[in-house]
Amino acid sequence: MMFKSKNVESFKIDNNNIPKHVAIIMDGNGRWAKARHMPRIAGHKKGMNTVKTITKAASALGIKVLTLYAFSTENWRRPDKEVNYLMGLPSKFFNDFIPDLIANNVKVQVMGYINQLPEQTQQAVKKAIEATANCDGMILNFALNYGAQDEIVTSIQKIARLVKNNEIDIDDISKETVQNNLMTTNLGKLANPDLLIRTSGEKRLSNFLLWQVAYSEFVFRNENWPDFDAEILSDCILEYQNRHRRFGGLK
Ligand code: FPP
Repeated sequence: MMFKSKNVESFKIDNNNIPKHVAIIMDGNGRWAKARHMPRIAGHKKGMNTVKTITKAASALGIKVLTLYAFSTENWRRPDKEVNYLMGLPSKFFNDFIPDLIANNVKVQVMGYINQLPEQTQQAVKKAIEATANCDGMILNFALNYGAQDEIVTSIQKIARLVKNNEIDIDDISKETVQNNLMTTNLGKLANPDLLIRTSGEKRLSNFLLWQVAYSEFVFRNENWPDFDAEILSDCILEYQNRHRRFGGLK
């Protein structure tokens, strides 16, 4: 019998080597819908339910930070109808999922240019952050109106301002200075993903976490995001555990 990549029973996850920070580019909602002769937004709706499933699964696996690329700075180019639907998703998602988040001890955070989002979206996000502020389990980190090149530009502006105000010397600007001025800085030591997953068969970064993925392991899956499930997530972690991370050194 051929080995299937999915759910090979003989390989078990090593609970001592769970990636601490997993980042996911949730791609393929539109294609999922198209294949079913449904409108694209039906794919996003199903994709939102996948977010719920994967949040619980990731938390149960012991992942510390789950960063999800929900809306990029480039996604505004989509038709108004789709953008409006996507902007309404956080309210839909948090409206009935906050009790589950609290029950799973999951803390919500966001990264991106949040103040450019519609007021209602900002309020939904704010409410979720406040409601889960005391949770100290997994961090569910939504990238909303996020783009890594913009993030780096903003970081350069912040550092330039520090120089201008004589708070730092140009020669003292280091990798840490940059790292500490990115949108992931409040994740501290967990800021850089150990594992980056992209669904739907595309093999691009699409302006996601350019700085932070310098040493991440990449796993590309062919399933569209609405079809992604806990078993596939476990599969991705198994693949991660079979890689040899050397961070540029020798083993
Ligand atoms: C990419 O698929 C997906 C998005 C741009 C949106 C992702 C959003 C969700 C999965 C729901 C997020 C949920 C919350 C709670 C914010 P695509 O539309 O680019 O698919 P395609 O490449 O097949 O067209």
